[in-house]
Amino acid sequence: MDRIRLRGGRPLRGSIPIGGAKNAALPLMAAALLSEGPLVLTNAPALDDTRTMAGLLAQHGLSVDHDTNARTMTLGGTATNLVAPYDLVRKMRASVLVLGPLLARYREAKVSLPGGCAIGTRPVDLHLKGLEEMGAKIDLDSGYMNATAPEGLRGAKIYFTQVSVGATENLLMAATLADGMTELVNAAREPEIDDLAHCLIAMGARIEGIGTDRLRIEGVKALHGATHPIVPDRIEAGTFACAAGITGGEVLLEGAKLEHLGTVARVLREAGVEVEEAPNSKNTGGVIVKRLSGLRGVDVMTEPFPGFATDMQAQFMALMAVAEGASMITETIFENRFMHVPEMNRMGARINVHGSSAIVRGVSRLSGAPVMATDLRASVSLILAGLAAGGETIVNRVYHLDRGYERLEAKLAAVGADIERLPG
Ligand code: EPZ
Repeated sequence: MDRIRLRGGRPLRGSIPIGGAKNAALPLMAAALLSEGPLVLTNAPALDDTRTMAGLLAQHGLSVDHDTNARTMTLGGTATNLVAPYDLVRKMRASVLVLGPLLARYREAKVSLPGGCAIGTRPVDLHLKGLEEMGAKIDLDSGYMNATAPEGLRGAKIYFTQVSVGATENLLMAATLADGMTELVNAAREPEIDDLAHCLIAMGARIEGIGTDRLRIEGVKALHGATHPIVPDRIEAGTFACAAGITGGEVLLEGAKLEHLGTVARVLREAGVEVEEAPNSKNTGGVIVKRLSGLRGVDVMTEPFPGFATDMQAQFMALMAVAEGASMITETIFENRFMHVPEMNRMGARINVHGSSAIVRGVSRLSGAPVMATDLRASVSLILAGLAAGGETIVNRVYHLDRGYERLEAKLAAVGADIERLPG
């Protein structure tokens, strides 16, 4: 297994290209099941998770071609196999996003239950309840969801009892081909959902309320292919913003959209990290991040967008570990998303977890150490801690990182980090 070795203490300076968003690419790829296509996705990131989704769609019978040089993915064809097997779904729970499209277009799907993961049990009850309200019949048998809709899905008014990104995406896609009007109330409002909705409209869907928590979808008979640029990855951008902050440097996040950082930008400013839109970057995107003064402890609570993103919680905790004063970080979305804490404490951080909150008392300096990653964002938070630590840090199990960050060590080395991958 590959490891990453880094030595901290260098302020990062220069430009970092921000890729297409992992959490937009995955539902957009699943949307290819809704029509013959071709669906052309530009600004497509090359990640382990997109490769897993490509494999899943290919075993359904779709053609998936990813030109990684052109950063363009072309998907199309007809599904000949309606089963999403356990060995693929357990690798990546976003595989469950094929359920809505398969049911909507083929009126049948057999998808493995995703099971939990390191950060929580992550059930799919909201996905299933919504699809049943749209007329699907779903039986759970031997770890699989056997779903049928012999007469096709019908429009329904669906109230989400809690905000769910995946359930919103699954039902949004399913509703595009349902008979009649569907309304999703208390829908998630993440930029990746807006991106999916815009792509579906380009494919011929009728959707209103984009950007709000009420989406209205008028079903159509069929969708067609389209070309769609994937939105830049706000979590990758936020991660590198924390890297600039923790090292006291200044970086340009090429292609990033400031408004997609939501509350993360405001909280970073409160902590002493300047986050501004790059001059004349209206169309191209671009965010400049620089550390103005010392870092200050700031309290944070994770919430659905536009609140502070749970996917930024671990990275922000690394920043707070070397801030002046204390920070209370409360995780409200997942039940077990503090696994980076023991590893950071081995690097000299002073963090105490009480239930869903962590108290971080800033220290002047962390010390490098061999550390273990447990999930995608925990992994990258240890890289950030290593960038600020004295001495050498070795991050093990970096396969977690490769799921969601493309060429992470190359991008950091290009702005001055002393970092390299040690092939395992
Ligand atoms: C998406 O996961 C993201 N993944 C996650 O990013 C992100 O952390 C999460 O949204 C929240 O923003 C992708 O987009 C591929 P949810 P998802 O449904 O859709 C509960 C990363 O690091 N829930 O919004 O699975 C659930 O247990 C990953 O890139 C139910 O109870 O998240 C959680 O507590 C990690 N029943 C909360 O809702 C359901 O049917 C939010 O989950 C669905 C969810």
